[in-house]
Amino acid sequence: MTEILSASSDGITRAAALLRGGALVAFGTETVYGLGGDATNGSAVAAIFAAKGRPSFNPLISHYPSAEAAFEDVRPSSIALELAAAFWPGPLTLVLPRRPGSRVSLIAAAGLDTLAVRVPGHPDALALLTAVGRPVAAPSANRSGRISPTTAAHVLDELVGLVAAVLDSGRCAVGLESTVLDLSGARPVLLRHGGVTAESIEQIAAEVSLGGVGNGILRSPGQMSSHYAPSLPVRLNATSAANGEGVLAFGPFAVGSGPVFQLSETRDLIEAASRLFDGLRWLDDEGERVALSGIAAMPIPDVGLGRAINDRLRRAAAPRPGGG
Ligand code: TXA
Ligand code: MG
Repeated sequence: MTEILSASSDGITRAAALLRGGALVAFGTETVYGLGGDATNGSAVAAIFAAKGRPSFNPLISHYPSAEAAFEDVRPSSIALELAAAFWPGPLTLVLPRRPGSRVSLIAAAGLDTLAVRVPGHPDALALLTAVGRPVAAPSANRSGRISPTTAAHVLDELVGLVAAVLDSGRCAVGLESTVLDLSGARPVLLRHGGVTAESIEQIAAEVSLGGVGNGILRSPGQMSSHYAPSLPVRLNATSAANGEGVLAFGPFAVGSGPVFQLSETRDLIEAASRLFDGLRWLDDEGERVALSGIAAMPIPDVGLGRAINDRLRRAAAPRPGGG
């Protein structure tokens, strides 16, 4: 079954040995839990796609303990070097041209000539990556199309029996995935809003195009419109709740009869981001308990981390292919 490892030095050593042996290990990062496999091992990478039920055309991020290690597999531009110095370790993923000698398996990058690389900010993740000594491919540790996990318990809900182990490093502080920035073309293109705000990237890289967000089916194959989907329908920009709806609140809310999950009483976007996926999961569970008809999500300002929150909420509310 699935071993639950504490993030002690023994736990990290065990997790690293499993990864080096080709097994899958979920591990905490500052953004969300990742479903890790040795990125240089084609069978391990194929097992990641199988465990998630992820389409094989959707490439994976490779994770490294340092920028130097990452840049062994991709060719950094001067902006990439500046962004890496500013934001790594941290919630930023850079898409760069793959080096010809890159160790990363071709299926990890879905056959593209670019590779997404990231140095995560969580100390346990860095210790694990250092111990593995190879790039670790890791998508979020959820079933494809579902809500990303921000605790080890969420990972077990999604993938128990499908991963060799979960390294429990507590609750993810950021709670949303990394920002994905494509630096492989003439001009930087933001492919996914995430833990590093577009505004803070723009302070270093001028003329970032936001054109990749939302229409990313071509440039970032993972940006399907329906994603992060709870079982219940989600209604956006709700200013009141109908009977039978649960509420995802952002600040004071006129309490109705249904359950309320407060993202942030003080309307703090950092706090709200860190609680978003938890809230969607909680309301979904409440929905089963007390038969809710849906989730009413209060409006969130579309600035800073609010853009990443709104992106995830729009996907949670999007019509689902196949109705589920
Ligand atoms: O915070 C995160 O980024 C987490 C943690 C575990 O690091 N990982 C994560 O991975 O969210 P995933 O697979 O759920 O999302 C990766 C996104 C997908 O939208 C994928 O299409 C895009 O990055 N991506 C990966 N490689 C790419 C490439 N070469 N070109 C364009 N987009 C790429
Ligand atoms: Mg994901």
